[in-house]
Amino acid sequence: MTEFIMNWLFGVLFAVAVSVTGAAVDLTSPAVFNAIFYITANVEVWHAGARNVTSAKYHWLHHGIDEGLQACGSFHSAQYIRRYSDVEKAHGLHGYRQAIEHYLTTGQHEHRVGYLEGGYGGRWTVSDAHHKLFVSASARMGAAIDSLVWNNHEFINSIDHGRELQMAFNILPYGGCFNPTEAGGRYDGLSTQTNSKIQSVHASGITLSTTVWPAFWFRAVNYIGEKPCPGGMNTENTYRHPFSKKVTLECPGISQSCLHFRSTFTIAGVFPHYTMLQMVAPAGYLTGDFTVWRSYDYSSGHLVAYHTKMPVVLSSPDKHFAMGVFASPKQDTDEDMYYGRFVLSKDKITADTNKWNVVFRKHTLPAGTTHVFNYDTYICVGTLNDVTACLKKLTQAHHADLVG
Ligand SMILES: *[C@@H]1O[C@H](CO)[C@@H](O)[C@H](O)[C@H]1NC(C)=O
Repeated sequence: MTEFIMNWLFGVLFAVAVSVTGAAVDLTSPAVFNAIFYITANVEVWHAGARNVTSAKYHWLHHGIDEGLQACGSFHSAQYIRRYSDVEKAHGLHGYRQAIEHYLTTGQHEHRVGYLEGGYGGRWTVSDAHHKLFVSASARMGAAIDSLVWNNHEFINSIDHGRELQMAFNILPYGGCFNPTEAGGRYDGLSTQTNSKIQSVHASGITLSTTVWPAFWFRAVNYIGEKPCPGGMNTENTYRHPFSKKVTLECPGISQSCLHFRSTFTIAGVFPHYTMLQMVAPAGYLTGDFTVWRSYDYSSGHLVAYHTKMPVVLSSPDKHFAMGVFASPKQDTDEDMYYGRFVLSKDKITADTNKWNVVFRKHTLPAGTTHVFNYDTYICVGTLNDVTACLKKLTQAHHADLVG
């Protein structure tokens, strides 16, 4: 059968369910299903071979729905049932399909929310006051943010532990060979585990606070396809000092959707000799949709070609979805802070990634003492117009940090 006919058949036979009121319900609606989230958040879906949009939809409709899997960062049938006792009373704890239909036909119009406050099943979700922006962390990813949904659209790629929206640091000249990473290590791969050790997670209202001992990205062992790291370095899986973050889904004076991301790095323990400590506070690994790169020029108020010293903005080509990042350069850094951008793999939806980061740098610190660094970063989310307006407000509010 051709792809076209397969798609057509799936659409006609499976994507339509009939609700109690008789209205057709699309169970692959973006309000409840996102292919990249479904594949990456449920390792078994990947292992079952569903790795593109068509096969992910098929898996969801034939297995995932009735197994109570989560297919979207902002909605999970099992959590929705536990949040609303009338839904549980009507359909039972395992009435996943009916719960999804309930949400699509009535719940979302009543402004009901599709997740359980305080976390459920190793996932923690918070949303803004309007329930338009949803941010989630998972146990599998060391409580790093592995989903950001705005206007029913997933922004984050989390196919492995080196993506997400997360903190990390590295030291020069070692790079990835001394690189504690919030979500986990290279070797955690497509397992359900992480070598990052969660110390605490609190998800409540609009605020997500976490503390984790991050995994080292590479261990000092040879890995097929990778250069071995110098001997004797990070033979441990885990860096035994905390990374903490407090993420609040509102920014002072900003009416657009915005995350205030406060990172705290603890630098302690035994390090090889290094010349520079680079703290990533944080990095965002967006999906393949965010292919257009610009910077916000705060002197002209316009978007310009990408530049390392100006707030970085990524958007979809149609400008309907965008993310822009601002951090004051007057924070604790020995070299100028900068905004980085990278494109990782471009071949398939699960791997396609457009990355930004915010980097603060310190020269060699005295050994044998503990150093704690805090950074504030603001992440604007919305249409490209929303994000530009948000960055304008933020840079105006920090004007004194940006001149001289
Ligand atoms: C999607 O994945 C399925 C299952 O592996 C495969 O048969 C199909 O050819 C893929 N479709 C596309 C468009 O890559």
